Amino acid sequence: MTYRICLLPGDGIGPEVIDCAVRVLCALPLGWNFIEGGIGYAEYQRSGSPLPDETLLKIRGADAALFGAVTTPPNIPNYFSPVVRMRQSLDLYANLRPIRSIPHSSAPSGIDFIIVRENTEGLYSGIERLEEDGNRAITERVITRKGSERIIRKAFDLARQTGRKSVHVIHKANVLRQTDGLFRAVAIEVARDYPEITMNEMLVDTCAMELVRAPGQFEIIVTTNLFGDILSDEACMFVGGLGVAASGNIGSDAAVFEPVHGSAPNLAGTGKANPSATLFAAAMMLDYLNESNHANHLRQSIETCIASGKSTPDLGGNLTTSQMTNEAIATLQTNDNVTLNEVTSYSNSKSLAASRRDSSLPSVVQNDITSNNLERNKS
Ligand code: NAI
Ligand code: MG
Repeated sequence: MTYRICLLPGDGIGPEVIDCAVRVLCALPLGWNFIEGGIGYAEYQRSGSPLPDETLLKIRGADAALFGAVTTPPNIPNYFSPVVRMRQSLDLYANLRPIRSIPHSSAPSGIDFIIVRENTEGLYSGIERLEEDGNRAITERVITRKGSERIIRKAFDLARQTGRKSVHVIHKANVLRQTDGLFRAVAIEVARDYPEITMNEMLVDTCAMELVRAPGQFEIIVTTNLFGDILSDEACMFVGGLGVAASGNIGSDAAVFEPVHGSAPNLAGTGKANPSATLFAAAMMLDYLNESNHANHLRQSIETCIASGKSTPDLGGNLTTSQMTNEAIATLQTNDNVTLNEVTSYSNSKSLAASRRDSSLPSVVQNDITSNNLERNKS
């Protein structure tokens, strides 16, 4: 099976960690056709837009996309957040954040839940205005039946697919009576279609507290946009922090997987960035592509590296970004029964753009896509 993947390296450590993910993916016995899309501040300086339409077309035309990170530049008037724009333009309505104990002294064991965050509406709908000469600022919180139903269904489907028995619906319907009242009512309706799964409800402030007190009680959390943003950043600190936290943004006809961290300009070029977050994101992408065996093997190999101290400095190890990736590939090769592909020169390439021109890459079809032929290829 050959998959077409759109790579979005971005800024700072983004290209470095995407490079690691490509090397690991190429080691698996699967075929990859990588295309590259521009995103972020460097892309803005090159083309005048942090997210050109051409990039959106490339993501739409791919089976999935893998995104590094972008830098937010200071105060440029016509600049917009390419991450928020990408989620809205592609209607990537489900943000999935697995929260899973890693085998490391800094992380408690026994935690394995997924936060399912609505990604397109709520307080991030982008409807804001100033009144009274700028002395009164208003943001509208939009919750729709359609938006609520599809995210809640996603959460229950995920529970079913992963053999989990409960879903926590997180809201603040005691105060936000209309918006969260609707979200809660839709949850109760949807839950009827999943009789084998228990629906629990919890107020968001209680949830923030319970996540600290007893995180092991959760299996799936589903919530609205802002609450999910905050709770998922809180939760990722139990399990190793930004160096390992991954997420997926999933819509009906596109999906983008990414590490949770930003472009970490303080680490760019130092070899200290932990590649694990992006490798876990690549594993989520494999799950999405129905390659769950490979996804599980990849997760196991990263965890083996972490457990044996073969990691970057943020987890107490002394390996570089690239060395940790090599260890993950070596572990995959030891653990996996199948014969893996030989990985060659991606490790030495300074950038994916350079490596794309490198004819010594055997397992990657070096085939770029223009907007025109992408349109033709779309069915
Ligand atoms: P950040 O996530 O880049 O860094 C926060 C801290 O975590 C830093 O100390 C950094 O060294 C560390 N860190 C991040 N990734 C790491 C990794 N892979 N391994 C080890 N340590 C890691 O967030 P920060 O510093 O607030 O923002 C830097 C830039 O990234 C800003 O321009 C911000 O706007 C942007 N950003 C982009 C995001 C995205 O592309 N999705 C998300 C968050 C921030
Ligand atoms: Mg966030």
